[in-house]
Amino acid sequence: MTQRVLVLGGGVIGLSCAFELKNRGFAVTVLEQGKCGGQASGAAAGMLAPYSENVEEPDPFFRLCLQSLRLYPEWQLAVKEASGLDFEYSATGSLYVMYHEADVLAMKSRKLWQDEYGAASELLDAAELRKLEPLVASEAIGALRYPGESHVYAPGYVKALEEACRRMGVDIREGLGGIDIVRWHDGAEVRSASTAQTYRGDTLVVANGAWAGLMESIFGMTIPVYPIRGQICAYETPDMPVRHMVFCSQGYVVGKRNGTLVCGASEDIAGFDTTVTRRGIARLENWNGKLFPFLGGMRPFHEWAGLRPATQDGFPLLGALARSNSVMFAAGHYRNGILLSPVTAHVIADLLEGRSTSGLPLDLFNPERFSQ
Ligand code: GLY
Repeated sequence: MTQRVLVLGGGVIGLSCAFELKNRGFAVTVLEQGKCGGQASGAAAGMLAPYSENVEEPDPFFRLCLQSLRLYPEWQLAVKEASGLDFEYSATGSLYVMYHEADVLAMKSRKLWQDEYGAASELLDAAELRKLEPLVASEAIGALRYPGESHVYAPGYVKALEEACRRMGVDIREGLGGIDIVRWHDGAEVRSASTAQTYRGDTLVVANGAWAGLMESIFGMTIPVYPIRGQICAYETPDMPVRHMVFCSQGYVVGKRNGTLVCGASEDIAGFDTTVTRRGIARLENWNGKLFPFLGGMRPFHEWAGLRPATQDGFPLLGALARSNSVMFAAGHYRNGILLSPVTAHVIADLLEGRSTSGLPLDLFNPERFSQ
């Protein structure tokens, strides 16, 4: 009999799981309290940048990110084909800019271990950097270039995922408001407070991002997932003056094909508040003007915020609960939800099919690890 899966959360992780599961023959219902892609997923800058965003060591999180980056070329094509929608996927590569001689040694040691994991990075001096990005600040003394990093236009990607799911017959229920999980042992039953409807499945996949942390009393376990607000802004730059994703220690700047330049992002704690603050945006304006002086004379035309789902140890909650044979978690992806969406979908689908998850250290991502 076809297995029925309820996916809690219509963000990039929930929709990706739904897409992969439906492709593999499961009957899938997505339960979304608000609107699909209405939270962190739609707010993301869409960087697929495991090397630039993981600079310390090749820990299991980095390796998960890398595996997902490698899945992206094929994955994004499958989403485009199934949805009939196009979205930007740009293999621009990235530059991590340095300002001080003292940074060079750190960059060299980063390069050493990252090249062992396929980065093929290149250390650029000031002249080489300026050839690639002519408008970068004169104070920049060089950069580490990662040719294999890319980015997507996140709102377009999430919209295409949703459309792909709908076309394939995933049942998507939005606007459910508060949700009660009535049963989660031996099958799953979820009731929507606002529509008073009940949804039943054999398995429940919890993919509701920062909101997973509110479910401790339901599952009787510690779920240290917290919202970290990311404030972000965009400039109108129709002549596309920045060619790569450009990172520095303070943040990143990425030019989109639609002529906007996206600059991110703050990390602040504000509960579930997605308000944009003048202070948060001023901080972005301050450092991005130091990276690209032409931005100093401009004002962003759009400012917004999203809630990243951070976890206590920085690793996502990914896998099945031992305390139930009907619940899986796919939450807590922090800064890398867009990047990690294909690998997460593959892991969840493999686990549901009882297949091996090809060398991933899933014990370190065990959703019950904080309760043992
Ligand atoms: N991955 C970029 C960010 O979270 O701001």
